[in-house]
Amino acid sequence: MGYDPDVSERLLKRVRKVITVPMGVKLPPYFDPAHHEVMGNVIGRCNVDFLNMINSVGNGLVIDPERETVVIKPKGGFGGLGGRIIKPVALANVHAFYKLFQGKIPIIGTGGVVEGVDAFEHCLCGASAVQIGTVLVEEGLDVFGRLEMELAAILKRKGYNSIAECRGQLKEL
Ligand SMILES: Cc1cc2nc3c(=O)[nH]c(=O)nc-3n(C[C@H](O)[C@H](O)[C@H](O)COP(=O)(O)O)c2cc1C
Repeated sequence: MGYDPDVSERLLKRVRKVITVPMGVKLPPYFDPAHHEVMGNVIGRCNVDFLNMINSVGNGLVIDPERETVVIKPKGGFGGLGGRIIKPVALANVHAFYKLFQGKIPIIGTGGVVEGVDAFEHCLCGASAVQIGTVLVEEGLDVFGRLEMELAAILKRKGYNSIAECRGQLKEL
């Protein structure tokens, strides 16, 4: 649905009418600035309170060359990709939407957060918070304490007092 702007807009406007809590939208990854702009316009018309991006990168195929089989089931081996491999796509989407909305809609950065530095990079791109998926499954609840410590150490080393200070501060060359 996130790849169909008309359907997305109809749904968001209907949901907006009945929702009584802040309304967040989780977006799939987009791969072209034209798509960021189209969905940005939809979101701008739907009174969205916060965004979360990205959902997994859809329909990857992981195979086992020894057994010559797919690894994931069902769907014939097709499955959503997460973890380190998707971080550049996630950062690109966070930064694109941060710039589109000039930082006015808070973004939860999701995708490829495995270490504290990944969370820091999401903040530089404009994230106000981060979400984790793959590494939570792999490591369990202890991951939250580890990431918090690693991120705090990076902020301290770089002289930032808070996440807010580095949010969206990514420099372009
Ligand atoms: C086991 C698992 C279940 C997931 N279920 C959902 C879901 O129900 N809804 C959703 O929006 N994203 C779901 N995701 C995607 C994650 O929220 C996240 O967007 C994606 O995995 C990228 O983050 P990561 O690199 O930290 O894994 C799931 C991810 C995993 C690993």
